Amino acid sequence: MATEQTQPESASQESEAQQSEAPESGEKPTEERKNAVTPRVSEELAANMKQGWADTERRDLEPVPQAEHTARRRAALSARFPGERLVIPAGRLKTRSNDTDYPFRSGVEYAYLTGNQTEDGVLVMEPTGASGHASTLYLLPRSNRENGEFWLSGQGELWVGRRNSLTEAERLYGIPVKDVRTVADTLREATGPVRVVRSHDAEIEAALTDKVTAERDAELRTFLSEMRLVKDDFEIAEMTRACDSTVRGFEDVVRVLDRAQATSERYIEGTFFLRARVEGNDVGYGSICAAGPHATTLHWVRNDGPVRPGDLLLLDAGVETTELYTADVTRTLPVDGRFTELQRRIYDAVYEAQEAGIAAVRPGAKFRDFHEAAQRVLTEKLVEWGLVEGPVERVLELGLQRRWTLHGTGHMLGMDVHDCSAARRESYAEGTLEPGMCLTVEPGLYFQPDDLSVPEEYRGIGVRIEDDLLVTEDGNRNLSAALPRRSSDVEAWMAELRG
Ligand code: GLY
Ligand code: MN
Ligand code: MN
Repeated sequence: MATEQTQPESASQESEAQQSEAPESGEKPTEERKNAVTPRVSEELAANMKQGWADTERRDLEPVPQAEHTARRRAALSARFPGERLVIPAGRLKTRSNDTDYPFRSGVEYAYLTGNQTEDGVLVMEPTGASGHASTLYLLPRSNRENGEFWLSGQGELWVGRRNSLTEAERLYGIPVKDVRTVADTLREATGPVRVVRSHDAEIEAALTDKVTAERDAELRTFLSEMRLVKDDFEIAEMTRACDSTVRGFEDVVRVLDRAQATSERYIEGTFFLRARVEGNDVGYGSICAAGPHATTLHWVRNDGPVRPGDLLLLDAGVETTELYTADVTRTLPVDGRFTELQRRIYDAVYEAQEAGIAAVRPGAKFRDFHEAAQRVLTEKLVEWGLVEGPVERVLELGLQRRWTLHGTGHMLGMDVHDCSAARRESYAEGTLEPGMCLTVEPGLYFQPDDLSVPEEYRGIGVRIEDDLLVTEDGNRNLSAALPRRSSDVEAWMAELRG
């Protein structure tokens, strides 16, 4: 990455060329700028930089593939909130440190409704009367070359890359586009009821501060969360793509698992990440690369431990596609390719529980059914092994199995790994499964290294198996089924990939 050799930090482009012309010495740098090399821009250079650039406007652009889906989604949103102005921001860059930012990831509501993922973007849906809305997408236009913005501003395209022109963006997203630098004033001046999706853009929220209430904004978020419970065809194709890439990422890991350099969890994380970045946008969440006893820590993302033969590796990872849909898959693998007897016993119990859970995923079933089916199997095993005193019904009633099962058996999946989290209980946790829903089934058993209530040989073993299911008209489809789950199949698959 370049330093500030020629990049001024101010975006006051108009005066920048002249200002930097003037003081070659004598003027004290500000505290922030004292280490920057202020560029000297001669009038000749400023004039030279204005001209000699080709017209690169693209006039042959087709709408993005999801444009008709986003239009339908906006129509559904419009029907729910007639007569109200709806504001859905993409969000802003977040500082990582000093002058570097985290990679930008658009707010899901914005991407879901527009197909666009640009930082600072804002979708405004203006009511057109008693019903209907006119949508406008607010984006930053191409850089101005006349005033030097494109090469003198930190947001100039010379620094950050070419943007779509507003006309190009209109073609791509099928929504009228305006300059985002006008949106805050437009919203400040607007009258009538308004709702905003919060937590993405403080400046937009500040512009609306006197006009919105937390309660009404929460209703907007809830509706958008519930809209995403049932995936459309575009989304199902994306989920399939995410799972297919994730399968390849797991295969990458197995291929390196017996190599000398793969002795650290970091190496596993990096191996999977390579696939995620090459085929998708990113990983959908911090990969859990948990070897040995780390597998008993549910959100082990430090990934700084060793990977040793004889141990299990619990790998929980998912590729997020370029359109921001993520898989969420777990396999628990014997590092040296063979389960020990006890590892296999525990693994097979989790497999059996997952099978029972998957069998309970079908339209009309309650969301809780697959959890209860899996918990019952795990509890039966724990009682059978003498780790908790039966009968099974009593253990389930008191929830005693949860010392080792720890978490719920699954969740909705989509643009967020824990998708649709603002949905109401009656539509989600206490709701009914419908075709088009995507969810995980992920039972596990975890024996903490310091759990004195189980025999020593159990301690430090953690097993989870997690797959991504689409609810279909007559049952479900396992989108991650290409990864073997049965213990003997896992061993055969590992042996084959290792050659
Ligand atoms: N990877 C997080 C989860 O399985 O829910
Ligand atoms: Mn997971
Ligand atoms: Mn999960």
